[in-house]
Amino acid sequence: EVKNLEEIFEARIARDEKIEPKDWMPEKYRQTHIRQMSQHAHSEIVGMLPEGNWITRAPSLRRKAALLAKVQDEAGHGLYLYSACETLGISRDELYEQLHSGKAKYSSIFNYPTVTWADMGAVGWLVDGAAIINQVPLCNTSFGPYARAMVRVCKEESFHQRQGFEIMLTLCRGSEEQKAMAQDALNRWWWPSLMMLGPTDAESIHTEQSMKWKLKRKSNDELRQQFIDQTVPQADLLGLTIPDPDLKFNKETGSYDFGEINWDEFWQVVKGHGPCNKERMSARVNAWNNGEWVRDAAMAHAEKNANKKIA
Ligand code: ACO
Repeated sequence: EVKNLEEIFEARIARDEKIEPKDWMPEKYRQTHIRQMSQHAHSEIVGMLPEGNWITRAPSLRRKAALLAKVQDEAGHGLYLYSACETLGISRDELYEQLHSGKAKYSSIFNYPTVTWADMGAVGWLVDGAAIINQVPLCNTSFGPYARAMVRVCKEESFHQRQGFEIMLTLCRGSEEQKAMAQDALNRWWWPSLMMLGPTDAESIHTEQSMKWKLKRKSNDELRQQFIDQTVPQADLLGLTIPDPDLKFNKETGSYDFGEINWDEFWQVVKGHGPCNKERMSARVNAWNNGEWVRDAAMAHAEKNANKKIA
């Protein structure tokens, strides 16, 4: 009978039908979705930290309001994705436990420090730019709740990317020092942004199966190339130099060839040894522990109310 169900499931995937939470699905499909969606949710939540770092120091009220809104959007994306993930039969507590114990991953990119205001520009421009490239195809992913979440998330990511680019543009049109600050931020964020899109297709263990299930619609290398091709003209417009001496337009492919990515650095960061991994994890674990009394108080209050109604 399972074989029959599996055939029906595969046929639905082939017809590009959405799979919904109560539909039959292979256990591995469920597990791989929990893995990717929860990693995505964790990335949104941990991703609030590097930018949250600059809210109190934003250079104007307008910049502060925009940055605050962006960081709040990320909280919203995280909570939305946790809810979508829960439809696969895992609880929020389990998901948090996986993050806090180090069992679950979150994006490598958020383990880098944000040292100057220009980093707010570079993160919005590059990190959110890469996130959009990665997430637009996911609007067509086969699992209904994930696909629907991505539609909304992408709209907001697009605002994030523009606010980042606009910070860069303002800095690049400013004083020599401001332009140098923008260049420095690009130098530090360029390579980690390329790594963010995941290992090469040859090294990517999940791509083949995830493409078959239409969880992934484009491979890591395809997304990376698309990101580079989209971003290089934007750097030109800013008058900034991409820190890659091997970057060159290839007339035959119509794309940019680029230099070697430092994959050792990527795996070091993924394994927990990046510049801010410890800081990020302890911020999340402390937030959870410090919020315990609030959760306890809310539970006690709910219980008290329920008892009142019975009496
Ligand atoms: N940071 C940390 N870990 C990574 C990263 C990264 N940038 N890229 C890949 N990995 C991990 C994978 O999770 C996997 O480990 P696991 O088996 O323990 O889960 C391993 O490296 C091998 O990679 P792949 O086989 O290529 O993994 P996958 O098919 O899941 O592709 C990708 C990775 C492209 C990130 C995919 O999971 C994805 O599209 N996720 C949804 C989007 C997302 O999470 N974005 C996060 C940043 S965007 C934002 O938050 C604003």
